[in-house]
Amino acid sequence: MSIPFVEPFRIKVVEAIKQTTREERLKILAAAHNNLFNVAAEDVFLDFLTDSGTNAMSDRQWSAMMQGDESYAGSQSFEHFQEAVREIMGFPHVLPTHQGRGAEGMLFKTLVASGQYVPNNRHFDTTQANLAILGANPVDLAVPEASDPNLLLPFKGNMDLEKLEKFIFETKPENIPLGMLTITNNSAAGQPVSMENIKATSELYHRYGILFFIDACRFAENAWFIKNREPGYTDRSIREIVLEMFSYADGCTMSAKKDAIVNIGGFIACRDEDLKFKIAQNLIVHEGFITYGGLAGRDLEAVAVGLHEGIAEDYLAYREQHTHYLAEVLKKAGMHVYQPSGGHAVYVDAAQTLPHISPLAFPGVALANMLYVEGGVRTVEIGSLMFSHKDIATGEEIPADNELVRFAIPRRVYTRSHLDYVGEVAREVVKNASSVNGLRITWAPEFLRHFMAQLEWKKS
Ligand code: F0G
Repeated sequence: MSIPFVEPFRIKVVEAIKQTTREERLKILAAAHNNLFNVAAEDVFLDFLTDSGTNAMSDRQWSAMMQGDESYAGSQSFEHFQEAVREIMGFPHVLPTHQGRGAEGMLFKTLVASGQYVPNNRHFDTTQANLAILGANPVDLAVPEASDPNLLLPFKGNMDLEKLEKFIFETKPENIPLGMLTITNNSAAGQPVSMENIKATSELYHRYGILFFIDACRFAENAWFIKNREPGYTDRSIREIVLEMFSYADGCTMSAKKDAIVNIGGFIACRDEDLKFKIAQNLIVHEGFITYGGLAGRDLEAVAVGLHEGIAEDYLAYREQHTHYLAEVLKKAGMHVYQPSGGHAVYVDAAQTLPHISPLAFPGVALANMLYVEGGVRTVEIGSLMFSHKDIATGEEIPADNELVRFAIPRRVYTRSHLDYVGEVAREVVKNASSVNGLRITWAPEFLRHFMAQLEWKKS
């Protein structure tokens, strides 16, 4: 059979989405100061802004929610949640948080002091900001291949081990309270990290007495890539691979809004009970008591079921093929797609698609805005609006490594014809690409500016 993929589920509930006209969208975008984060969701036809919390839950998850135990302390729902984390990830201790950034915040507040350093293959924006707010320094050490959108390699999310060792040696382990690794590497086009690299990163951190935490948001997709791309893993089950990945770590932070296929939730899991109690002090002040951490009992039930559904092999096979199909559709439309496509998203290289726009005039924002204008498709820039930084010595603005536009795919939400529609919109954008200008910022906050920045189109 030559069908590109088939959904391993059928649709039981539907949600209407509204189409607007091109003229209406031009007005909506202008009123949103040319920042798609400011556009109301009802004015978006297909929303690829994020795969986070935008998932369709299953009938089993919804029915588990009806059994949520809303007790303040020691709820049954917490027990179910803890059981799922223990079984799937192998960590004995878990603290729920309202979402991933809550987990990062609590972990860093407990372990990291001002002036210290935390390495990662690449920190996501909230991870970076959670460290910056403490006066600490996030350090990105991904392999150089991660920044090359045209290289077709299996594990471009890997940590650069040589750079990491040099960094630890120069910075000194006592200034590094913990080291991280993000699987898959969202800020590097959703590229996976190999088992070999997870193991070697762990050995390196541990050799220098540094705690090792995994940013686990998309752990199931990472495991799927290991199964399909790494020698020696083809015949291993996803469950075994997941357990092995986490066996190398002292703990993890998790946004359940991704691979646990829910709409809200997160957690910190770890091996050390003393560390759990230390984090718990902060958790109780900022998130909630240790058995709910800012979530309702029903949310914990949904995560417990979702963790199992997120590692189902038929689901993961569909998930990879679905994402790959969107990459092919965009390529056929003439967009420069980052190679290979990631697990949760397709990344288009805006620098190649709009070569006439310089990085600090935000080609990614221009491209994302045009996708919205042409077809009501919302994506997100992952480029210099999100990640440029000031050179400490000169104060000069340094662009991000890449100017990408991310099409993040909500789990179990869009069908193949939705993806074909995106292809038609992309074709229209490519046709008009040379007449699109860059943008300039008219207002932006100090941290995480991309969320709220206001921009205007340049005249030429
Ligand atoms: N770590 C990574 C790798 C992420 O991608 C995210 C969120 C977080 C941590 C924070 O989790 O949103 O639950 O607080 N990424 C979303 C995205 C927002 O669109 O990629 P959160």
